[in-house]
Amino acid sequence: MKNYKQTAAFSRLQSFWNQSPDLQTLNRDAARNQRLTLETANFLLDLTKTHLTPAFLDAYGQMLDELDLDAQIEDLFSGRKVNNTEGRPALHTALRSDDDIFVDGQNIRPQIREVFDRMQNLAGRLHQGELRGITGKPMRYVVNIGIGGSYLGPLTVTEALKEHAHIPVAFLSNVDDEHLQDVFRRFPPEETLYAVVSKSFSTPETLMNARQIQNYFIENYGHEAIAKHFVAVTAHPERAVAFGIAPENIFPMWDFVGGRYSLWSAAGISIALSLGYEVFARLLAGARQADADFRQLPLEQNPARLLAAVTFLYNNLAGYGTEAYIPYRQRLQYLPLFLQQLIMESNGKSVQRDGRPVVGPTSPVVFGDTGTNAQHSFFQALHQGTQKLPVFFLGYVRSAGDAHENRRFLLANMLAQAESLAFGRLHDEPHKHFPGNRPSVIWLWDALMPENLGYMLAVFEHKTFVESVLWNINAFDQFGVELGKINARKFDERLKTRSGDRPVERFISKNLDN
Ligand code: F6P
Repeated sequence: MKNYKQTAAFSRLQSFWNQSPDLQTLNRDAARNQRLTLETANFLLDLTKTHLTPAFLDAYGQMLDELDLDAQIEDLFSGRKVNNTEGRPALHTALRSDDDIFVDGQNIRPQIREVFDRMQNLAGRLHQGELRGITGKPMRYVVNIGIGGSYLGPLTVTEALKEHAHIPVAFLSNVDDEHLQDVFRRFPPEETLYAVVSKSFSTPETLMNARQIQNYFIENYGHEAIAKHFVAVTAHPERAVAFGIAPENIFPMWDFVGGRYSLWSAAGISIALSLGYEVFARLLAGARQADADFRQLPLEQNPARLLAAVTFLYNNLAGYGTEAYIPYRQRLQYLPLFLQQLIMESNGKSVQRDGRPVVGPTSPVVFGDTGTNAQHSFFQALHQGTQKLPVFFLGYVRSAGDAHENRRFLLANMLAQAESLAFGRLHDEPHKHFPGNRPSVIWLWDALMPENLGYMLAVFEHKTFVESVLWNINAFDQFGVELGKINARKFDERLKTRSGDRPVERFISKNLDN
């Protein structure tokens, strides 16, 4: 398969960038601005403060055609083994589809439906007060024990949609025992349902945390407490059974869904348990719409393909190498964390699908925080620093209750930042000069409904996929996390025996002994 540099359109795109007018000049063209503003019933996507032009998009569209993007999308959706290094499909889209989809000759639709029915049942029983803990008290809290993809999606969604919450949820992710103590103190264990979410059921952080809670119950109430207080979500049910979890409380994950794409599966169980199954289903419905739009809509109406054009422009033509995602609502505070894993774990690769070195930059470094908080910390560098980067502003206008002056001010700040970055300010004093010509995108929603959030998250998944096609890399493996895991085990052994002979280990040993 080809990469972007092997397309005829590439040199045209490069010269567009090399000869690009600045954002001030570009924005004087009302016809261009019109074509770079996508408005639907639910959102406005404003690309006018990027260096994109209709001519650029024409060439970009040709490049996607030369790369057979549409055929590659169909391969993704139909269950071809697009994760070529692991010989697996990447069927997160099947989780939100109503179609029959076959993996190795078997229709996977019925098993997905069955798992969702079980999730609905469990969530319903929890909300009716029918689930009781070992002391007979009804369960009133949920703790999700998991990390990476078994954590960040549910965290982002449950925070964003918390106005729907029936049951409070906490997340135990890091292996720090102080974190565990904090969660343990927050919710009384006797009234808490623990969901151990781990596709592999071998991630040490997750298992160490789960074992410590398990020990608490065994010491205080005996083994039968485990079946009452734990559910598991995993592709290795036998490991969850060995842990002591009742088979009827084990929900499957599948090899055909990657961890960072798994919030739509039973890995999203804490979404259903906390917010209700109906909210989970509405999230899936929004993602289903995004899937249809990604496949069908022409480029100028297709958010995932357009957003990937922005990343391609600044990452591969301009060489900026960094992106910021700034949600202007506090309830979207975890979205940058979700996007970091989605983008960087998917596309942080140095070899193409066939193992040859890549021909240009792949995943940008992604970071972010909420506005206005970010304005008061790192925005100085975005406005006047030497490193340029595109900023993706995300927000929504309405929310429960009447319009409030705080929300209006929040929005005003978002618009002001985009404007200041793009157009700058001339000043005689060099320290007060704003150079401008710094790109940003505004993606503004009318309200943060479950459907809209599902749509937005799925668009980011598809944006990431388009980029992987441009770069000809496999977005669905993550071998880069393995070496650190192996070395962590080695260091843990050394620290256990305190026999390390390197300065850092000697320092640790000395301090641990005191
Ligand atoms: O270490 C990276 C990773 O494998 C992620 O891809 C994954 O989301 C996370 O660990 C958690 O894995 P698991 O669900 O198997 O515990």
